Amino acid sequence: MSGTKGDHPDGFTAIILAAGQGTRMRSQRPKVLHEIAGLAMLGHLLTSVRAAGATTVCVVTSPQQDDVRSFVAGHDARATTVVQEAQRGTADAVLAARSVLETVGEPVLVLAGDVPLVTPETLQATARRIREGADVVVVGFTAADPTGYGRLICDASGMLRAIVEHADASAQERAITLCNSGFIGIDGEKTLTLLDDIGNDNAQGEFYLTDVVAIARARGGDAVVYEAPADDVRGVNSRAQLAEVEAIWQARRRRTLMEEGVSMAAPATVHLTHDTQIAPDAFIEPNVVFGPGVRVASGTRIRAFSHLEGAHVASGCVVGPYARLRPGTVLAADVKIGNFVETKAAEIAAGAKVNHLTYIGDAEIGEGANIGAGTITCNYDGFAKHRTRIGPGAFVGSNSALVAPVRIGAEAYVGSGSVITKDVADGALAVTRAAQVEKPGWVTKFRALMQRRKDRAS
Ligand code: UD1
Ligand code: MG
Repeated sequence: MSGTKGDHPDGFTAIILAAGQGTRMRSQRPKVLHEIAGLAMLGHLLTSVRAAGATTVCVVTSPQQDDVRSFVAGHDARATTVVQEAQRGTADAVLAARSVLETVGEPVLVLAGDVPLVTPETLQATARRIREGADVVVVGFTAADPTGYGRLICDASGMLRAIVEHADASAQERAITLCNSGFIGIDGEKTLTLLDDIGNDNAQGEFYLTDVVAIARARGGDAVVYEAPADDVRGVNSRAQLAEVEAIWQARRRRTLMEEGVSMAAPATVHLTHDTQIAPDAFIEPNVVFGPGVRVASGTRIRAFSHLEGAHVASGCVVGPYARLRPGTVLAADVKIGNFVETKAAEIAAGAKVNHLTYIGDAEIGEGANIGAGTITCNYDGFAKHRTRIGPGAFVGSNSALVAPVRIGAEAYVGSGSVITKDVADGALAVTRAAQVEKPGWVTKFRALMQRRKDRAS
């Protein structure tokens, strides 16, 4: 037996419904794998249910959804998946997890896979009300436009009497704005017997989970509403709603970062990813995009229009404007990366400067080195990638091509416009451009010659 009430004081079993078609997304991809801040909606939910203290997590999938099952395995190794053979409604979906429900004693929380922003607090509050004696707890919200949602029908004492789906509701019931979010908590020991009584005599011919309310009440049980903020339980049925939920997530995360001490000059223009880490006293200028895997330390400034992914930036750096840091970029303290500089798999030591129009890929740059405008590490020969190593204190003149594999020694100089194909020793100057030639008085002679030719021709 997986437990009885009280086995685990705050634990609950989460059943996440993900088997629906998601037709309105018009996508080849299952709806729950569409991403908010670079993480699948299902990933947000799995993270939240664990944060709330779920002991058992089971995701209901359709037979075709191998990609959903492998996502679950990759995101939460302890979570399990079950298959709902045909999509016959939300109650039928929960019953696909019968093997889990047969042994459960703790509260069962059913979650809709397309409602990704639910907070651990809401989940805990729902589980708590079950533990306090309710048979069914429905997480409700007040909808500005309740069209499409199940309406919560309460009696005079505020106790929940039934949920009526939009398609089955009378005009009077449709006027109700208190709606079902899709999250329903049920007493674990009663879940199976309540759900087994649900039929499909309704407008859509489906087995509605929402009927659990009327059935629990008919048996003398309590059913209550826990009202959550509407933004926490927004559902995603279309691309437009996906973008709305993304905007809510972004605004919340930016607010949290600012509360933690990060400055943003124009927060609404900063785009974050679910795992972006920015330390207090970093300053983010307008229009900066953080892709996955970015860490920015304290005291660093990310200037306008920069794009970062897979990059670690230490303290005191200045990046941008218009810089692009790609995966594997590691900047030590006080590095300067200027405009139109691209870095990839580049370790740049403290105090080094790469200020203008440069590509640094598969490279190491030593402490305090100075890389001139237009320097290119030629890391690719059409077959393989090769490394460039630049020593501490080195100076690479503008418009130089460093053809990897190659090493520039400590304190070495590379003359502007050089194409470096061989290693340069410590402290040496390497220059590969042609020597400058000067012809005194040449312009006067040249012009006279050209004028004579023109006069002859006319
Ligand atoms: C459901 C609720 C409605 C609530 C709304 C909130 C029911 C009957 N209705 O309606 O009261 O206001 O959510 O968004 O529960 N799913 C399966 N298998 C199925 C059917 C659905 O796994 O056979 C999954 C879907 O993938 C989805 C979730 O269950 O994640 C909800 O299903 P959906 O069809 O979106 O229900 P709604 O019509 O939105
Ligand atoms: Mg839905």
